[in-house]
Amino acid sequence: MAKEKQVFFCKECGFEAAKWMGQCPGCRAWNTMVESPKLKGKGKSGYSQRVLEMKKPSRITEVSIETEDRYNTGIGELDRVLGGGVVKGSLTLVGGDPGIGKSTLLLQMCRNMSMEGLSILYVSGEESLKQIKMRADRIGDFNDRLSLLSETCLDSVEEIITEEGASGFNVVVIDSIQTVYKEDVDAAPGSVSQVRECTSAILRLAKQMEISVFIVGHVTKEGVVAGPRVLEHMVDTVLYFEGDNIAAYRMLRAVKNRFGSTNEIGVFEMKNTGLAEVMNPSEYMLQGKPENEAGSVVACTLEGTRPIMLEVQALVCQTGFNYPRRTAVGIDFNRITLLMAIIEKRMGIHMADYDAYVNIAGGLKVNEPALDLAIIAAVLSSYRGRALDDKTFIFGEVGLVGEVRAVGMAQRRINEAAKMGYTSCIVPKANEDMLEDKPIKCYGIKNIKELAELI
Ligand code: TYD
Ligand code: MG
Repeated sequence: MAKEKQVFFCKECGFEAAKWMGQCPGCRAWNTMVESPKLKGKGKSGYSQRVLEMKKPSRITEVSIETEDRYNTGIGELDRVLGGGVVKGSLTLVGGDPGIGKSTLLLQMCRNMSMEGLSILYVSGEESLKQIKMRADRIGDFNDRLSLLSETCLDSVEEIITEEGASGFNVVVIDSIQTVYKEDVDAAPGSVSQVRECTSAILRLAKQMEISVFIVGHVTKEGVVAGPRVLEHMVDTVLYFEGDNIAAYRMLRAVKNRFGSTNEIGVFEMKNTGLAEVMNPSEYMLQGKPENEAGSVVACTLEGTRPIMLEVQALVCQTGFNYPRRTAVGIDFNRITLLMAIIEKRMGIHMADYDAYVNIAGGLKVNEPALDLAIIAAVLSSYRGRALDDKTFIFGEVGLVGEVRAVGMAQRRINEAAKMGYTSCIVPKANEDMLEDKPIKCYGIKNIKELAELI
């Protein structure tokens, strides 16, 4: 009997090798090589199965893109993130922490699409039909174009879908990829091999039958979809659903999108009746902002191409320790330490005697340098115990020499602020000089000393 050939592959980058290695030669990651699944029977691995029909190359001018039909999901924020709706025959991965609302979002999408006359199959490996129905009852009424299936064996799911044929389902949701398994793969559900084989089977199904498939993927502690990274390479679109467990808002972000830009985000709020779209995130983020309080500054960040106004809060107080405390919530801690050092050196304020706490109100996480100037303003404001003008907002990057540097899309930020009723802004001078339109009063500054004089 011929010896079975073993293959190892890297779960980070998908590199394949004939023997196990501690370090992957492809991506240099340690301990990522795993054994490829042994297939029962002598069938070929689905992964390498080729389409048998002969294909000819086509000239690029002859390729028609009319086939790139899209379905509307009936959820504006989701459509936006997908790049204008769901592409027929596409495979989308929706990742996120448990309980963030992935199943809710997809069920709402299924409901809307079935109302539009599409035929939908929702496969859950996690919940019973009763549980899904209970959630559905909170969301609204449903019609019978949406079918539910509680199943973890992917082979059965495939059978059901192929039996329906070409006139069958338009959209299929698999919730979640970590709970389904293929019978001929000798590994537990959720293992690297199962996830890889199942995804490739789903991918084939989606492309062959022109079904748009959504798969749910759970996220590990490190914030990546559990299972191999190759999963992300295989699908057309990767969406991450994120947010604070405490705050009610949720953000849907495209990490990869073969049919649109990855710059778009969708904002939702979890309510009793499911997820509601947040049309105006700025208004949402500024809810409950205190008026005329020292240490509170309004800034504007960009999420993708979307400007969002938010409140930066700082609390500066005399330290009781030898070593001052620095705390950052919603923003990179190292950035805060850096900005404190800049304040100390360039403004001559002895920050070493003071504890400083900086918080982005509303639970948003931002790592855009455009917030630097607002953070410094908030720290100064709290240090001096003097509030800033309520109708002023601030943005700009700060360099190590204390210079205020230009940031991208200044016009958009200013227009957003004008829309929200702000009347003046403190911005980098370089940005001010390039503005086409000044709907509000702009104070352009070149370094942080000017900021100290202004506020
Ligand atoms: P769920 O969609 O099950 O999350 P995931 O599939 O990402 O694990 O959503 C779970 C949470 O959402 C759950 O804690 C309850 C809450 N929820 C609401 O607050 N309102 C609702 O209408 C629904 C359906 C869920
Ligand atoms: Mg779920």
